[in-house]
Amino acid sequence: MLDVVRIGADILARKAEPLLEFNDALKETIAHMFEAMARDRGIGLAAPQVGIGSRFFVVSIDGDQPRFFANPEIVMTSEEQVDYEEGCLSIPGVYAKVKRSAFVKVQAYNERGRPFVLEADGLLARVILHENDHLNGVLFVDRLGDAKRARLLAEYERRLRI
Ligand code: NI
Repeated sequence: MLDVVRIGADILARKAEPLLEFNDALKETIAHMFEAMARDRGIGLAAPQVGIGSRFFVVSIDGDQPRFFANPEIVMTSEEQVDYEEGCLSIPGVYAKVKRSAFVKVQAYNERGRPFVLEADGLLARVILHENDHLNGVLFVDRLGDAKRARLLAEYERRLRI
C-alpha cells in the first residue's frame, strides 16, 4: 500500500519528469494509487503525492470510469471560470474555494502509452486541472491569496501538533 506524501515534502513542490516506461511496474503502481485514493476517499491522486516524480495521475469520480493520465498537456481551457471547494490528500482537513476554468481539453497517454484527447467540464475538469498542477509542483493552496494560504496552513500545522 502506498502512503500519501504530505505538504512540506520537497517532491510536492518540484516539477515532475515525463513518464517514459509504460510497463508492468507502472500498472502495479497505478493499481496501488487507486487503492490509496479509495482508502483516503480522494477523487484524484498524482504520482508526486506517492513519492514518484513522474508526470501521471489517476482520477476516480463517482458515476464515472476510473481514469489515468500520463504526460498530460492542457491544450485548451475555457475563459469561463468557476469557484468550487477543493481539498487535497496531501493537505488533509484543509478545504478552500479555488477558481478554475470550467472546461478543459487535455491530451495525454493511457496506461499502455497510447495517446488520447479528452474534453471535460464540471468536476472532471476541475480534478484534471488540480492533478495537473501537482505535476508542476503546485498545490491548490498556492492558488489562493497569500493571506488565506498562510492562515489555512497555520491552522493545518496547529491541528498536527494537537
Ligand atoms: Ni491534490
